[in-house]
Amino acid sequence: MTKVISFISRKGGTGKTTNAINLSTMLHSLGYTVSLIETDTNYTLSTLRKMELFKSGAKQDTVFEILGSEDDKIAGELEAIKQKKTFDYVIVDSAGKTTDEGIKRLCLVSDAVVVPTSLTQNDMLVTYQTITDLAPARALNPALKIIVLPNRIHSLTKNKTIQEALNNLDAEILDVAVPQKNLFVNFSTILAEKQYHEIAKQILTQLGNGQTQKSA
Ligand SMILES: Nc1ncnc2c1ncn2[C@@H]1O[C@H](COP(=O)(O)OP(=O)(O)OP(=O)(O)O)[C@@H](O)[C@H]1O
Ligand SMILES: [Mg+2]
Repeated sequence: MTKVISFISRKGGTGKTTNAINLSTMLHSLGYTVSLIETDTNYTLSTLRKMELFKSGAKQDTVFEILGSEDDKIAGELEAIKQKKTFDYVIVDSAGKTTDEGIKRLCLVSDAVVVPTSLTQNDMLVTYQTITDLAPARALNPALKIIVLPNRIHSLTKNKTIQEALNNLDAEILDVAVPQKNLFVNFSTILAEKQYHEIAKQILTQLGNGQTQKSA
């Protein structure tokens, strides 16, 4: 069964693109069939992928696909993709400017929503608002998992501090954080970042898949 994991936030710059690509490369490296769809009309990831294929000479059939879409088309496209069952996971990188209606439509066809957030006051307020605004979509899609992913966390910040900062949110808070690191700034659309393994594992667990590696 195809599972759709959508990265959303009502604010730009929280780490949707960074984490959508890191999750995709990790799931691909673990043997899952992955499709990544970006609805940001700058199509950053599609452009980076073209450049990386050109530079590395890697073959198109060794990498997962990256497609572009738009807010008003993505929900319909996802329904069609789910019916075909070609992929294990479809990852959606939504744009920071996506409207509330666009977010709601996306949530109705998603299995999980991942909201990345730093611990800055501004990001946490926006995350609170993002999750509160998901109530109508949640009512219509009760199976939807809402996952908060602590992102850009200082390496000395304790997990307890992160959990305490985010525990007022009505969502699953991941027990592992993405550190503020340059290796997450200079991401690849081809090579998986090994530090992301535990995060991918926890996201899959939230979706009821306790296995990290795809079984044969
Ligand atoms: N874990 C991290 N460590 C260091 N830098 C990060 C990390 N996550 C995100 N960033 C940086 O923060 C900025 C915003 O990240 P990103 O582009 O992923 O956010 P976004 O939510 O996709 O933004 P938009 O809404 O504009 O699409 C980028 O410059 C990115 O490199
Ligand atoms: Mg983005």
